[in-house]
Amino acid sequence: MELKVKELVLKGKITEQTVEIYEKLGLDVKSSGEMIKIKSTVSSTIKGVNHAIHVEINALSVLNRVFEEGFCRYSEDNSMPLEMMDDLGNKILVYFNPRKSIKKIAILTSGGDSPGMNSAIRAAVRTAMKWGSTVYGVYSGYEGLINDNLEEFLWNDVEGHNASGGTFLYSARSKSFFTLEGRRKAVYNLAKRGIEGLIVLGGDGSLRGASILHKEFKAHLNELIKCGELTCCPYNIRIVCIPASIDNDIPFADTIIGADTALHRVVECLDNLMTTMESHCRSFVVEVMGRKCGFIALMSSIATGADFLFIPESPVFEWKVALIRSVRRARESGKRGIFVILAEGAVDINGNPIHPTEVKQLIIEETQIETRILTLGHLQRGGTPSAHDRILATISGCKAVECLFTSDDETPMLVCISNGVYRTFELEKIIQKNEEISRLQDARKYELIKENRGIFFNRCHQYSDSYCMRSSKVTIKKRIAIIHHGRIASGVNTAVDAFVHYGEIRDLDILVIYDGFKGLIKDQVTRPKFYDYKAEMKKSGSIIGSTSDTFDLDSIVRKIKQHRIEALIILGDEKSLMKIPDIASATNIDVILIPSSIANNIPGTDICIGSDTALNTITKSCDLLKSSSSSISRCIFVVEVQGGNCGYLALMSGIAAGAFESFIPERRYMIGHLSEIAQRLRLKFNQGQKQGTLLLRNENTFEKITTDAF
Ligand code: F6P
Repeated sequence: MELKVKELVLKGKITEQTVEIYEKLGLDVKSSGEMIKIKSTVSSTIKGVNHAIHVEINALSVLNRVFEEGFCRYSEDNSMPLEMMDDLGNKILVYFNPRKSIKKIAILTSGGDSPGMNSAIRAAVRTAMKWGSTVYGVYSGYEGLINDNLEEFLWNDVEGHNASGGTFLYSARSKSFFTLEGRRKAVYNLAKRGIEGLIVLGGDGSLRGASILHKEFKAHLNELIKCGELTCCPYNIRIVCIPASIDNDIPFADTIIGADTALHRVVECLDNLMTTMESHCRSFVVEVMGRKCGFIALMSSIATGADFLFIPESPVFEWKVALIRSVRRARESGKRGIFVILAEGAVDINGNPIHPTEVKQLIIEETQIETRILTLGHLQRGGTPSAHDRILATISGCKAVECLFTSDDETPMLVCISNGVYRTFELEKIIQKNEEISRLQDARKYELIKENRGIFFNRCHQYSDSYCMRSSKVTIKKRIAIIHHGRIASGVNTAVDAFVHYGEIRDLDILVIYDGFKGLIKDQVTRPKFYDYKAEMKKSGSIIGSTSDTFDLDSIVRKIKQHRIEALIILGDEKSLMKIPDIASATNIDVILIPSSIANNIPGTDICIGSDTALNTITKSCDLLKSSSSSISRCIFVVEVQGGNCGYLALMSGIAAGAFESFIPERRYMIGHLSEIAQRLRLKFNQGQKQGTLLLRNENTFEKITTDAF
């Protein structure tokens, strides 16, 4: 008989948070000032009360809510139950007993490796273990399934790979998996262990592999049972895929594991190339990866200010003429280092491939500029994953397990971020869409191909087009000024350069104000030239200077009028945001804020300029701390990070660096929480864990506890 507490009455000062915790746990809650009554529901059960209140969640939606609201705390042995506390000081132990349970899961990585895969493996393995599954890692992708190269993972087996690119499960482009015989062996090796769920990480080819395996699984298994090779009961495998490929070519997904890191690699290489290119006054044709998708080429060309771009989705009409016009214009404007970015799958309007050598020859013949070719190749797939990829991968790993537990065995699924939110798609829908895109490519229907790349890609392409001087000029001229106000955020120089470049291309009347509002009052207002900020766009800091303090509204209004400024763009932080209504109403001009804040705390914005760079800087530092302390036992680093009242940096870098815990100002901590963490740390060290341990703390998290005291 199932044990169940019918009703539990708790007495004391009942806070809103206490009520919220029990509600979020899916229980029925009634409260008055001094008392709270909680009851079991269909989705959650009170299983018992001794030193703690034991709650069993049965519905995944409730568990998701608990995770998403950040209530959960993991238990000492890193498995269920989750631990939390109410404001009365009661410890709550939360168990997950899903209606559907999967006892054995396998995970594999396949196709081209992509940085971030390791974080996804770690997250998936640990989430599945917490929910009571045994997890097998399959080495070398589908090839490993065929060769029976599987190993059961324990919690610590997946530790320590977050900062490494590639995949510690290894990958392969398996030829044997294309054969029926190969797939039959794969089914045998899964079924002989009773593996019911499979998580596949990879690109388009890997997804198709997963789909075929699923379609054939039952038939192969029935045959294996029939001929006596296996003695188990017939079943079908559940499959969930996580898209991972630096090409970022999976339909419906905004960005997939590896693409952001590849972009980092390309941008780093181009920054390095710039100095030698400028010294010799040369031009370069840089070939980047992307057989069918121009994501890396497009985004890196925007990030670095390339002078021309070739992508498979949008062949340029009369590209030779357009290219030479761009190169000449760049040189005439005084640009010393000129470069063109070409995706490996670039084609002309007739679908013929464009080779770097052809581009190089043309530049030399037409402009006599000394030109070289740089093929970045597999360098783009290597190296440390970016913070973004590690976070994306971690959440995708957790989501994939959630999806396995909820999906049925007839529908393989895929989890990804689509239009800004994590979503699940039927795998078949993704595969069909990719086939449709391939057909469009064969038929050279470029506009339709581009449409399939999503809104962000298209918007970026539109701007990049303007950069290549193919946009029309405006008829109404407004005088627009740009100013930087507030704290420094890396990336503002790129924004200034884009403003000037775009303004010039479209023949706008543009001004740059130096040293913020203080500078405006002192008339530090200049009219920029086309290439004034090109060399600065890769630098951090603010080339046009910024001030946070000076704000004399009357003087500012007077100067805006005196300089006949009709629209003002402020690169600014949350403090600048507050000034906008005053300036706008006193001057009656358009005032626009470009959110620039490492804290990433501007309401209504997903990402502010500067926050991603700050996140990567913290993550890199944490990697170094972890590795420096990895051989020292009992060493914990407490890392204090900026962010003001916003925990974005602490939370995200905690996920990216694999921190033991992150403390953020958005959460309320009680002394019980801290002792519980200390207890877990003690346990970790007693188990002889040598991996460097990090605690991340946002600067404003505890009002009264300094980092030292902490
Ligand atoms: O993973 C995608 C990709 O990196 C493509 O951009 C590139 O064309 C291809 O893989 C290279 O494949 P391989 O590693 O097999 O040479």
